[in-house]
Amino acid sequence: MPHSEITRSLFDQVMVPNYAPLDMIPVRGEGSRLWDQKDNEYIDLTAGIAVNALGHAHPELVNALTEQAQKVWHVSNIYTNEPALGLAQKIVDNTFAEKVFFANSGAEANEAALKLARRVAFDKYGEDKSEIIAFYQGFHGRTFFTVTAGGQSSYSDGFGPKPANITHLEYNDLAALEKAISDKTCAVILEPLQGEGGVLPITPEFAQGVRALCDKHNALMILDEVQTGMGRTGELFAYMALDIVPDVVTSAKALGAGFPIAAMLTKTDLAAHFVVGSHGTTFGGNPLACAVAGKAFDLINDQKLLDGVKQKEQLIRKHLQLINDEFSVFKEVRGKGLLLGAVLNEQYQDQAKAFFLESAQQGLLVLVAGANVLRFAPALNISDDLIEQAMLKLKQAVKNVVNQDTE
Ligand SMILES: Cc1ncc(COP(=O)(O)O)c(C=O)c1O
Repeated sequence: MPHSEITRSLFDQVMVPNYAPLDMIPVRGEGSRLWDQKDNEYIDLTAGIAVNALGHAHPELVNALTEQAQKVWHVSNIYTNEPALGLAQKIVDNTFAEKVFFANSGAEANEAALKLARRVAFDKYGEDKSEIIAFYQGFHGRTFFTVTAGGQSSYSDGFGPKPANITHLEYNDLAALEKAISDKTCAVILEPLQGEGGVLPITPEFAQGVRALCDKHNALMILDEVQTGMGRTGELFAYMALDIVPDVVTSAKALGAGFPIAAMLTKTDLAAHFVVGSHGTTFGGNPLACAVAGKAFDLINDQKLLDGVKQKEQLIRKHLQLINDEFSVFKEVRGKGLLLGAVLNEQYQDQAKAFFLESAQQGLLVLVAGANVLRFAPALNISDDLIEQAMLKLKQAVKNVVNQDTE
């Protein structure tokens, strides 16, 4: 089919309508810039929703992929493979983890984590210990188990009977957790910063309190770092700044820096409950994915890059403040590292989409997190110069929305 026949309207003809993509179709990227079919240029502050941590078409990642592509693409888990073992070794050497399970998406990594927690509890304490505690506004993926653990029932309603025994509580409310948790709880699952739920940071007291209560009740602390992991908050993983050691951490998104891969990280004694045949996936640990992720791991696990994330956070915050001084649109800017949310004030309630669409008109790609939050999750190596250019475009977009509002 010639390029000219592939348009956004084709999406409506041939794709399941569960997404509502923009009209423009990106065809090419380089670093933090993207071009569409008409060669319009955009600055990308989305990084594919916190995925392309090193920007588009990073030459070293392209090399890693093409080199592996000449060797072996897929062998299944009947065999192991060198890129998977190499990546697992790097993860074990640089985190709390002693064992790694590879999957293909964040949801699958969390599915594995929840199943592991249930299995550990079943093996050690019997079937009554099966309660999972999760939090409102949390997001853990779209498999039926993970979406039910997520904190918005509207995402899990309407699909028939839900996986049972999942309790939801207010995030950052330690007293509520203390009241709810019991010896029947097998796991507490949470994000160290709720991304999709509105870019809500955790308090260190809550993180440490969850750890202590999980210890008290022999429950696993599962930290969903699908969005925060791999440098996003300025640490390799966000838990590293919280003074806790979780039992399980899940990673995806930036792990492959744009190539689909996910991982569940855990300890040897827990991993031992996933005996041969108890869990699995065809594609998990795929050599192409692991070759790219191995190279991405080396590039992201670099103190200079991680320090840069913190410095770029300040630069973006400074510009958001300046924009707000002029136009009074944000109530607060929250988040950590390069996962930042600008929360709209009362006057612009529920209008995040308008800012998002007007930004795209200005050649700037940003994200929303719910109806009230503009979310920024650029590549971790975006240049300061490009941030400055992006903020000029954002300023223009904000100005246009504010003017439309007052017309
Ligand atoms: C914290 C968190 N967990 C899990 C997921 C699900 O990941 P995936 O879409 O790769 O299944 C997401 C996706 O946005 C996420 O942000």
